Amino acid sequence: MKGIILAGGRGTRLHPLTKATNKHLLPIGREPMLYHPIRQMVGAGIREVLVVTSTEHIGHVVACLGGGAEFGCTLTYMVQEAPRGIAHGLSLAEAFADRSKVCVMLADNIFEYSIAPYVDAFKEQPAGARVLLKGVGEPEHYGVAALDEHQVVEIQEKPKVPKSAYAVVGLYFYDNQLFDVIRMITPSARGELEITSVNNVYIKQGQLYYDHCKGRWTDAGTFESYAEASRFMNENGNRILPHKEPRARTGGTIPPPINEG
Ligand code: DAU
Repeated sequence: MKGIILAGGRGTRLHPLTKATNKHLLPIGREPMLYHPIRQMVGAGIREVLVVTSTEHIGHVVACLGGGAEFGCTLTYMVQEAPRGIAHGLSLAEAFADRSKVCVMLADNIFEYSIAPYVDAFKEQPAGARVLLKGVGEPEHYGVAALDEHQVVEIQEKPKVPKSAYAVVGLYFYDNQLFDVIRMITPSARGELEITSVNNVYIKQGQLYYDHCKGRWTDAGTFESYAEASRFMNENGNRILPHKEPRARTGGTIPPPINEG
């Protein structure tokens, strides 16, 4: 499996911190934010990683991360010339993916626990896509999953009236149909190619599976969530914690009450 980290975008919700630099170079605890998704992927056995970032900041991103030896992986870089959406950034990775399965992380998503069990679950999944759900207090800020007893039936991007309290977090797994699926979707009302549109195509094909995200998780895109990410990474000395159970609970069951784990 190959890894793709999306670190483009403008980070406007963190202005003025992001006026002169890329959001993902800001510190979280003792390290630049981008170290986290790379360490997560390497910890889960992924050794080939692509970082997609913006034209303005790619120089600084390369200066910060280098070739990957420090992390135990090979890093490749790609420029997303304009922030046309997460799925647009992902579309640039087609040649890199070379028909492999991919693990995709949004570079501003911070997970307290290792992503390794989810990576292992996807390795065993014959085809399709896999997402991670987390019960949150304000689901309207995220992609929100509507569930029946067994599966995700729809994902809505930042709905005014969420159908559940389950946010779809920024860690996604796809098989080699991904780039054909991206070619099928069209820009949303805000003019972006949405990752939620990609996931909804997999749902329609009956090929989207999910896990529940264990431990603390947050994105770091607003001042509040950035502070929360910094808080728990500081508490843990930037360590990514191993799971207490050998295998995270997989999806396909009735979801547990919110604020789990
Ligand atoms: O954090 C999880 C949420 O991330 C999901 O629940 C949503 O479904 C998903 O759309 C996304 O929502 P955000 O509004 O938080 O996405 P944002 O525009 O902040 O982008 C998240 C990261 O994706 C950002 O850190 C950089 C990367 N990105 C974003 C855009 C728009 C790119 O690399 N290129 C882009 O064009």
